[in-house]
Amino acid sequence: MQAGTRVVLGVSGGIAAYKAIEVCRRLVDGGAHVQPVLTRGATRFVGETTFSALASEPVRMSLWSEDEPIPHTRLGQGADVVLVAPATARLIADYAAGRSGDLLTATLIATRAPVILCPAMHTEMWEHPAVQENLATLRRRGVHIVPPESGRLAGGDVGHGRLADPATIVAAVESVLTPGDLSGLTVLVTAGGTREAIDPVRFIGNRSSGKQGHAIAEAAAARGATVSLVTASTLDVSGLTEVVRVVSAAEMHDAVMARADAADVIVMAAAVADFRPVQVMPHKMKKASGPPEIRLEPTVDILAALGRSRRPGQVLVGFAAETDDVAGNARAKLAAKGVDLLVANDVSVPAVGFEHDTNAVVIYGADGSVTPVELTTKLTAAHRVLDSALHVYRRGADR
Ligand code: CTP
Repeated sequence: MQAGTRVVLGVSGGIAAYKAIEVCRRLVDGGAHVQPVLTRGATRFVGETTFSALASEPVRMSLWSEDEPIPHTRLGQGADVVLVAPATARLIADYAAGRSGDLLTATLIATRAPVILCPAMHTEMWEHPAVQENLATLRRRGVHIVPPESGRLAGGDVGHGRLADPATIVAAVESVLTPGDLSGLTVLVTAGGTREAIDPVRFIGNRSSGKQGHAIAEAAAARGATVSLVTASTLDVSGLTEVVRVVSAAEMHDAVMARADAADVIVMAAAVADFRPVQVMPHKMKKASGPPEIRLEPTVDILAALGRSRRPGQVLVGFAAETDDVAGNARAKLAAKGVDLLVANDVSVPAVGFEHDTNAVVIYGADGSVTPVELTTKLTAAHRVLDSALHVYRRGADR
């Protein structure tokens, strides 16, 4: 950790507050400037004096300080990171709702620094939908969550909900503060299968879930990129700069083209429909009218359009879902669409491609490179795709 990194250490009222003392000590030992902010509840478990003795600044607790009119804005604006350990169910709920009734929650609302929450509570509370939904809301807003572990809880119970280990918490702080290898880059990702309307209730679609594209977007954000995701999937996604939900190939085309110029790397992981009905029926088609004949017309090939219009230095990555002659089809698409990298997967193989959480791909490069990625999680596959894209980007920048 860089010496002098300003950490606001929030401690809310749970038994795990005693472990925040160890977190505080480790942060200070690591060179951080630690300002503890305790809630009233926290002081029922740990003493102010303990933190004041260990930290770089005396404990702060009140919004209404004698010596300072607006402590929460000073703390929020001055922090490099705000860490809350432990974060109780109540603190999480207040933060998700935007309530700012005490110094800690007011500081959380007043900061633009990264925020890390380390929840700790009994298993029943941790698993309650209210808590999980609040955490999902916060994740969507870019808050980092260090999940609790399993083990002994207060009162002798054993279960999930124990505060993460202090070493894990400090490692999370370091990782959030370390600029990723994609920081400074803008990455545009597409995901999911588009739907082409036939009538108000029917559409032509495909089996793409959007999981691989979302994993690429989240991995790029975790590595510091500014990420726009244009997605036809309804899956949740978090930590991104922008998420644009679309349905059809035409909507995806417009959303991508509006953002393409600003992007350093574009990853077209979406399964875009190649054809759409010429006419969308205004009313539901009735069975009694007999089997319909639906005339189709081509959609715009977004990737090929990007390949023709991209600016120098921009890296373009296409995907290909194949069921046969994967290598031959991938190389043909690589050339035809004018991309730098073509990520091919054989969706006929078990556990590969559509709807699975795992994938196996081969990344073909315009320079003739072939990088196989053996069966792994979609997140790991996402990182390998980004590794290849970054390699191409850096090579271009060196020229
Ligand atoms: N793609 C696109 N716009 C389309 C169709 C596809 O941008 N209208 C992109 C996909 O996002 C993917 C790549 O092109 O990155 C390859 O898609 P794929 O459907 O495999 O290729 P097609 O060119 O449609 O070829 P075919 O369907 O014949 O395999």
